[in-house]
Amino acid sequence: MSDRRSVAPNDLEAFWMPFTANRQFKKAPRMFASAKDMYYTTTDGREVLDGTAGLWCVNAGHCRPKITEAIREQAGELDYAPAFQLGHPKAFELANRLAALAPEGMNHVFYTNSGSESVDTALKIALAYHRVKGEGSRFRLIGRERGYHGINFGGTSVGGIVSNRKMFGTLLTGVDHMPHTHLPEKNAFTRGQPEHGGDLADELERIVTLHDASTVAAVIVEPLAGSTGVLVPPKGYLQRLRDICTKHGILLIFDEVITGYGRLGAPFAADFFGVTPDIMTTAKGLTNGVIPMGAVFVKDEIHDAFMNGPEHMIEFMHGYTYSGNPIASAAALATLDTYEEEGLLTRAGELAPYFEEQLHSLKDCPHVIDIRNMGLVGAIELEPIAGEPTKRAFNAFLKAYEDGLLIRTTGDIIALSPPLIISREEIDILFDKLRKVLMNNI
Ligand SMILES: Cc1ncc(COP(=O)(O)O)c(C=O)c1O
Repeated sequence: MSDRRSVAPNDLEAFWMPFTANRQFKKAPRMFASAKDMYYTTTDGREVLDGTAGLWCVNAGHCRPKITEAIREQAGELDYAPAFQLGHPKAFELANRLAALAPEGMNHVFYTNSGSESVDTALKIALAYHRVKGEGSRFRLIGRERGYHGINFGGTSVGGIVSNRKMFGTLLTGVDHMPHTHLPEKNAFTRGQPEHGGDLADELERIVTLHDASTVAAVIVEPLAGSTGVLVPPKGYLQRLRDICTKHGILLIFDEVITGYGRLGAPFAADFFGVTPDIMTTAKGLTNGVIPMGAVFVKDEIHDAFMNGPEHMIEFMHGYTYSGNPIASAAALATLDTYEEEGLLTRAGELAPYFEEQLHSLKDCPHVIDIRNMGLVGAIELEPIAGEPTKRAFNAFLKAYEDGLLIRTTGDIIALSPPLIISREEIDILFDKLRKVLMNNI
């Protein structure tokens, strides 16, 4: 019998793939059969260095024994427990572990199954919070241009990526957007936080004045915007947002779906930048990407505001069949153990200077118009091919894959976010391969 892992299905038609050029893919499929630590193996037996931690989620590297074992054990012990009006110990244990890891005062966690669900949950908590506090006139949500907050209707509405929005009608009403912070003419090739653009936070003040603070419920931003092509927050920007929100009684939501669990060199971007939001959305690295799970952290006063009324009544009409699923909880606990045992929540900080040096050494490659970085996140922006936007980066993605390197592209930007276990030698391999790709007439 042949090894099942090496068998590629012969009919690819039925699966309508997400965020994929389906026709292109199905003509020349790219399939992974297995993975271990920093490498994938393709169905045709080639090793591919993971430069993106899967989709920004496999922070501890692939097929880590403790996580795999925890899932196996949990599946044989308690496979599912209803999430509503019933519980199981691991979901509570995990919430306590997460609260201990979170910024001070964020001791309550609401479980979801993805980043998108975390975002929609956070937006609903924000709206409902103002209502239970007697401020139901606060219904507006403020996002930011180029923001990515997943693909559910709430996240799409506050998100600011035009191609993700334009097909879907009116989306949520009562939403406004701040300007993005990408200023390449002033900040190109900045290492770390850009000097220019901190004052763009004042646009929030303008928007709040326009609508009146009494109508604004929450502001949501990615502390470091990932999916739009890595936009590092300018110096002072996040603190200014915090100050404006505090001044007007508006909740500040950090979408930490990418930045959570060590990506920047601290458990959360909130810790890294020293700015604490009121609500924090996470997913991805929570279970090392292995099992779908998300967690929304809220400040105690937000949680406590709901704990009112008759005790037999449900306080917040929201939740998912799989909120705090036993297998996901077991996977998350084992993931946190792995992060803690291996110091992965701070390792990006140790590697960041080396990663930065190697990344910026690509400045002399053809078509490179900007490079930016923070922690173990990097981006290389390419000059688009005239009349064919996105094609140059996609060409680079295909060439890199052929050469044994996984990168991620969005528009004409290459984004890098390797697993936090990456070694210096593997950083060298990553950038050697990428240099060859960029020099190769893409
Ligand atoms: C900041 C942010 N929010 C939300 C999401 C959506 O997460 P998911 O794909 O798990 O729904 C993502 C995914 O990349 C993200 O980067």
